[in-house]
Amino acid sequence: MKMGTKFVDSLLSKIDDESLRTQLTNEFNKLRDNKEFGLVFERHIPEYVRLYKREITEGAHVQLKSSKSDDIFTVREIKGKKVKIANKDGLIRDEKIDDLAVVMRHGESIYPGLVEVDRVERGGDKPFHTVINAENYHALQLLLYTHEGKIDCIYIDPPYNTGAKDWKYNNDYVDSEDRYRHSKWLSFMEKRLLLSKRLLRKNGLLIVTIDEKEFLRLGLLLEDLFPDAEIQMVSSVISPFGVARGSEFRRVDEKIFYVKFPETQIWNPSIESDQNFSFETFLEVVKKHVNLDDSSEERIIGELVETYASKPADEKKETFWFSLMRAGSNSTRSRSPGCFFPIFTTKSGELHSIGEALNKEQTVSEIQIPVGCDIIWPINEGNIEAVWQGDRDTVSHLFDSGFAKIGTMNKKLGRRSIVYLRSGTIEQIKTGVLELKNGIITRRKKKTNDLGTTHWNFPSHNATSHGTKLLKKLITDVKFPYPKSLYAVEDAIRSATNGKKEAVILDFFGGSGTTLHAVARLNQQDGGNRKCILVTNNSVSLDEESVLKTKGLYPGHPEFEAFGIFNQITMPRLIAAISGNTKDGKPIKGQYKFNDRKSISEGLEANVKFLELTYENHDTIYLNNDFSRIGTICWILQGSKGSEIKNTGAHFEIQNESFYCILFNIDHWQEFVNEVKHSDTITHAFIITDSKVQYQQVVKHLPTNIETTMLYEDYLRNFQIGV
Ligand SMILES: C[S@@+](CC[C@H](N)C(=O)[O-])C[C@H]1O[C@@H](n2cnc3c(N)ncnc32)[C@H](O)[C@@H]1O
Repeated sequence: MKMGTKFVDSLLSKIDDESLRTQLTNEFNKLRDNKEFGLVFERHIPEYVRLYKREITEGAHVQLKSSKSDDIFTVREIKGKKVKIANKDGLIRDEKIDDLAVVMRHGESIYPGLVEVDRVERGGDKPFHTVINAENYHALQLLLYTHEGKIDCIYIDPPYNTGAKDWKYNNDYVDSEDRYRHSKWLSFMEKRLLLSKRLLRKNGLLIVTIDEKEFLRLGLLLEDLFPDAEIQMVSSVISPFGVARGSEFRRVDEKIFYVKFPETQIWNPSIESDQNFSFETFLEVVKKHVNLDDSSEERIIGELVETYASKPADEKKETFWFSLMRAGSNSTRSRSPGCFFPIFTTKSGELHSIGEALNKEQTVSEIQIPVGCDIIWPINEGNIEAVWQGDRDTVSHLFDSGFAKIGTMNKKLGRRSIVYLRSGTIEQIKTGVLELKNGIITRRKKKTNDLGTTHWNFPSHNATSHGTKLLKKLITDVKFPYPKSLYAVEDAIRSATNGKKEAVILDFFGGSGTTLHAVARLNQQDGGNRKCILVTNNSVSLDEESVLKTKGLYPGHPEFEAFGIFNQITMPRLIAAISGNTKDGKPIKGQYKFNDRKSISEGLEANVKFLELTYENHDTIYLNNDFSRIGTICWILQGSKGSEIKNTGAHFEIQNESFYCILFNIDHWQEFVNEVKHSDTITHAFIITDSKVQYQQVVKHLPTNIETTMLYEDYLRNFQIGV
């Protein structure tokens, strides 16, 4: 179809010179016929990246931190805190070193390192999850060294490009006035998605969330970048009452793109898919009774969700537990004397013992109650002596199997009820149709290929109730815009990794850390060892940034960095979730909902290392030969397990508590090989040498089941990346 060319046609028609007009028209028609109609955008290559924390050295290119101008200067001389810088015309001026930031231009190399900032260890010998404070484009390039083709699932929730300054391009916020807003966003995403493609396994899965602002363009971009993939879009209700959109429809949902490859398997995402219910119906009911304004509407819905969510889904619809006391005409004591006996409970409502059946002459008042117990008789509301559903042996057996339990207090009767499961229900439990866990029955999902529908409307995905409010419990004093519902992310990751308990999951727009939290919970639910790699920058909110800048504080300054997302939100949230305590050491209130409803204060069995990506100065580090900046990269490469090897000056390191070893001095390779052969834990060996021949010589002698990596003696050179 020829489109959008009328204007050009009209311009061509204005050319008086007929031969020129014909030639141009012919050329244009050729172009027009070849033109692809699809996603067309400017690829904005950033001309520079500011590395605020990088040391300023003579010869470095710099910019003034306070300036938004693109001017770049060269450092000519450094004397203490004073620096002489020259512009492109050679004009020299004096500046303070603290006012400058190093700038790297496109095509230049940078040398990343990783340093540990903190850690939390509650997972015994499980592998570590890692959280990296970094510009994700650089982190993704670094991950190519450690994880190319090894990631099972990439889940990302990128900035939605709302026009409300929700992300930065080339150091500057992108707003609705920016004519290149969509192009910038697309080129930003394209660069990162191209790296994602290389990181994913052949049977991996890419999940991207987005809203109505960019979903059309993102869909086209994904089609362009992943031509072999099957792409599906799910619409997911995250805000049932809708977010106001001026004169437009209120927005209740967002979109989730599933990008799967021919070998990818997906599982049913939600074990709570029975949660569907209509908020609108609830609201209709409420509205009949009260006049509500918008804010109370949200409050009431919050309460409804909480109430609804606190009940197991199946209990709402199906009743499995019935009264153990028989009702009806056949239920009197005289008709089944063997079924009239007392049941003793502790004061807290647990079964203590079961008494013998009374003979015809005995009265209830003759029976002794054990000390500290309550007695329950099958006496109904009309004070008639009835019977239990079975004799003493049958009821004992029901209790022993968990098929009978002491119920709640019946206020009218002033005693607890006793409930039991009918034989049909017991049969279904035995055949696996139903599952009985801690007295709660759930219907097991049928094992089918049915993944559910492309419309998710689950209360557990409500971003306010289970994102914002949950985050508030974990980090009480800081706000984060739009965290995802923990359970929504859990469902998405479950769909990607239900059958892959060792999966590696990457989120490089990590924000408040919901994805890692969800992965740790999934591991807890099925005993998995999934590893999450979460990358987020340490960006400071727009408001805080303006205040800090008025105080002369810029990125790179510790006081500025303290206000960043990584420091203020991601790290404290994850430490709180795993430890179960708030940052002042208090147990976190509340319980998880929907699934694995533990108290949040129990914490999670997981290990997490918090890291910062550094930009090393190759010249100075090389002189010091400093291994410490790349040591963590090696530790990640071998699987983030066990303790990390440091360079102590020894010829090689083989430690029992590590799963890898490093040969620092190639001259000692024979001793090294001998020791590796005697270790039964080592799975990976790093050999430091500049000679491929020497490397291969060592590898030849190592056991074949050991993976090996050659590292250059110039450590930083091993992991060099581009701006
Ligand atoms: C929409 S939020 C993700 C929220 C997250 N899913 C949650 O539940 O908390 C996107 C996050 O990506 C981070 N981000 C944006 N651009 C980035 C970049 N270039 N490198 C690293 N992180 C970035 C932002 O700091 C922001 O926190």
